[in-house]
Amino acid sequence: MAQRILVTGGAGYIGSHTCVALRQAGYEPVIYDNFSNASRQVLKRLAAICGSAPEVIEGDVRDRAAIETALRSHDIRAVIHFAALKSASESIEMPLAYYDNNVHGTVQLLSAMRACNVASLVFSSSAAVYGDAERMPVREDSQRAAQSPYGRTKIICEDLLSDISRAEPGWSIARLRYFNPFGAHESGLIGEDTRGVPPNLGPYLTQVAAGQRVQLSVFGGDYDTRDGTGVRDFIHVVDLAEGHIAALRKLEGDAGLLTVNLGTGTGYTVLEMIAAFAKASGRPVPYVIAPRRKGDIAECYADVSRAREMLDWRARRGLAEMCADAWRWQIRNPEGYASDPHREKAML
Ligand SMILES: NC(=O)c1ccc[n+]([C@@H]2O[C@H](COP(=O)([O-])OP(=O)(O)OC[C@H]3O[C@@H](n4cnc5c(N)ncnc54)[C@H](O)[C@@H]3O)[C@@H](O)[C@H]2O)c1
Repeated sequence: MAQRILVTGGAGYIGSHTCVALRQAGYEPVIYDNFSNASRQVLKRLAAICGSAPEVIEGDVRDRAAIETALRSHDIRAVIHFAALKSASESIEMPLAYYDNNVHGTVQLLSAMRACNVASLVFSSSAAVYGDAERMPVREDSQRAAQSPYGRTKIICEDLLSDISRAEPGWSIARLRYFNPFGAHESGLIGEDTRGVPPNLGPYLTQVAAGQRVQLSVFGGDYDTRDGTGVRDFIHVVDLAEGHIAALRKLEGDAGLLTVNLGTGTGYTVLEMIAAFAKASGRPVPYVIAPRRKGDIAECYADVSRAREMLDWRARRGLAEMCADAWRWQIRNPEGYASDPHREKAML
């Protein structure tokens, strides 16, 4: 029987793509999500891609008893922990919510796992832990200096995980530091379903190209980079999802703690992204250069050698494919999962 993997936050952007990758790799994902930032429509879409929808448990990661029940009743072998709040700018306004959800949630999840003897965990960390690193590409052993409460919640969780693995050597834990996920599944059925003002460049680009927003604000045109705008490492969300399968497989053979960057190793400036997206969509992407944002850094892209060596994984999809897939998701789902149900019927 396929090994069951509990996927907290599995209804979200990266989680839903990882459920597809899990099925493709012969695992059985069980989604555990409170739907605070996800739509139930994603389940129908996953069924259309995978043949049947994964089982879903509606619950909060801060509810330890509910997680214990989920782990026991589904004979869970490992957990991939995506569930978290993820906006650096929002975390500055509401730090308590971020510490509660991200840190307290992880403590409760780990306590439940320990009680149920489930000791294999893949944790969603972020390049946000690095802050303004001195050297690029950034290596996993670079100093961590998060610039936001969000990034600090990830550092605290990372430290908690290394303390646990030191104290209780039976744990197998992968801390995966994601760079900037973009794109969508090639079917156009699942993608990033942004509510309100997008917290990051990807959905902003798609919405401006679609005419839903007037223009894009590029924060900072005077960085010491190729064209003065910030440089980031954009990674196709399907590549990122596949990185989780590589990590799970690695954990099956190895107890211990693993920390790995998941990026492409290539940095693109915001203006390069705008040009690539305009080309992929065939639409203009109007923009203005705005002042730098507090906490933003000039450049951040990954050293990916450890991912290649330890996980035998690398990103395979390039910028043009990322943009084309993001655009397909956008035009088929102009309002995300809340798009017209008749249109949805035709798509499925
Ligand atoms: N998207 C990015 O740019 C990015 C970059 C680096 C790291 N990450 C990390 O990756 C993970 C997934 O990010 P995403 O982009 O898929 O976000 P997302 O918001 O799309 O997905 C998170 C999911 O978790 C659920 N959730 C939130 N709090 C929960 C709780 N207390 N209990 C149960 N479910 C809860 C939400 O409903 C949502 O489905 C997060 O941990 C995030 O910090 C994301």
